[in-house]
Amino acid sequence: MLAGENAGALSGTHALVTAGPTREPLDPVRFLSNHSSGKQGYAIAEALARLGAQVTLVSGPVSLPAPRGVNLVPVETARQMLKACEDALPTDVFVSVAAVADWRPARAATKKLKIKGAGSEHPSMELTENPDILKTLANKRKNRPSLVIGFAAETHDVEEHAVAKLKRKNCDWIVANDVSGDVMGGTENEIALISRDGSERWPRMGKDEVARRLALKIAETVGDEGD
Ligand code: CTP
Ligand code: CA
Repeated sequence: MLAGENAGALSGTHALVTAGPTREPLDPVRFLSNHSSGKQGYAIAEALARLGAQVTLVSGPVSLPAPRGVNLVPVETARQMLKACEDALPTDVFVSVAAVADWRPARAATKKLKIKGAGSEHPSMELTENPDILKTLANKRKNRPSLVIGFAAETHDVEEHAVAKLKRKNCDWIVANDVSGDVMGGTENEIALISRDGSERWPRMGKDEVARRLALKIAETVGDEGD
């Protein structure tokens, strides 16, 4: 398919994408986070914009430039990410690519934690669960995006876990990816696209190509509504 052929396939639609890690403070200088680079989410935001969608990209801290034609909303914590997503509604499509930290320190100290000298006890950290952004948006009574797409980062039993996530989070599709190798931070991805009707495996390809194909698939599904 030629890119030009589909240039306006998503015009008139709004797409919301989350990307990157979240950062959960422990004190003013320390945080819990993960290895997400944001590459896949940024590539998806850009591919959707290329098809004419108005794109809001809510992103945790990454070292990538803002994709062209995208409204970038930078955030740090999972709770800020949820708020920014809710503020961006309504949207036709929601693609939840962010590697949201599942837990955060129950209390963030307002001053830097200090070592108290040799032999003193280690501080212990209590964790508390973060809100599930994907599940929250997928279960909205009012303003549920018409197409909700989650990602499932798995290291084993990839499709089985992904199908369980699709149901548990009330998603329309899940992009399942195997992160046991060099996917996080790498430039390639190997995914299976899972919907309520079944699944299709895609060959290993660049994250930009995954993004382009996923955007075309999204356009086939929601593109007509915007005309
Ligand atoms: N997600 C989210 N908010 C969270 C956790 C996850 O929006 N607090 C979204 C991710 O963006 C992704 C999907 O949920 O689209 C699945 O994330 P993943 O980490 O694979 O699954 P979890 O449900 O967190 O389960 P686990 O980490 O135990 O596999
Ligand atoms: Ca998780």
